[in-house]
Amino acid sequence: MEIIIAETTEEMSRLAADIVERQLLRKPNSVLGLATGSTPMGLYKELVRRHQQQGLDFSKVISFNLDEYLDLSPTHPQSYRYFMDQQLFNHVNIDPRNTHVPYGHVAEVEEYCAWYEEEIKRVGGIDLQVLGIGADGHIAFNEPGSSLGSRTRLKTLTQQTIEDNSRFFDDPDQVPRFAITMGVGTILETREILLLANGAKKADVVAQALEGPITAQITASALQMHRHVTVIVDSAAGSKLKRADYYRWVHQEKKRLIPRLIGRVT
Ligand code: F6R
Repeated sequence: MEIIIAETTEEMSRLAADIVERQLLRKPNSVLGLATGSTPMGLYKELVRRHQQQGLDFSKVISFNLDEYLDLSPTHPQSYRYFMDQQLFNHVNIDPRNTHVPYGHVAEVEEYCAWYEEEIKRVGGIDLQVLGIGADGHIAFNEPGSSLGSRTRLKTLTQQTIEDNSRFFDDPDQVPRFAITMGVGTILETREILLLANGAKKADVVAQALEGPITAQITASALQMHRHVTVIVDSAAGSKLKRADYYRWVHQEKKRLIPRLIGRVT
């Protein structure tokens, strides 16, 4: 696991965009796993900028989003499909037919979740997965107690997640209680992971997930078992990391000696 402590959220987003760009240059038909929420918004903005100003090409990219609220239609302004269209898909040359966000209005949830998993396999698996982390340590909507081997399925959100996400809704009672989410096991099967976190509110959970024990109580801690994870945090989110000086030193040394390997050696 490589941990990069960026000075600012903007730097975090730029470094993250470098990793996504490098992936697309290496493999133009990459399969990207994408997250919603506040954290990756700067990354998506930077990718849109690179597409518009530098021609970063998404024409062959296939994407799978982590999660979607149950019972929100794709046109609902708080649905994750709507978010992805607004933040990224509408502004780059990705083929909309190649974008997958779980469908919240589905009748047969179990069959649908099995199909979502099969689709990921059918296209060869996810090459690069972008993740945020919830204040309770979740990745996707794998709330505390989720099996570390879990697959795409329906999850009930915790009170904390409902409260955290109520900032996007006019009325907190409108926040859905259920979501379809990729499982921790699904995420661990991706080839490479890019975990982002910003802001002081994430500092405690970032430290627990990266430096604490692996536990289903903080599902992000399962990333410690993955072979290729790059974590990029801003200085506020990284402020509780015990080995922050070491991570900073490693990054400086890489930048100085082997910049092409940032995000590559694990
Ligand atoms: C979103 C997702 C969630 C968020 C997490 C952090 O698709 O899977 O795990 O990444 O809740 O949300 P923000 O970025 O809004 O703090």
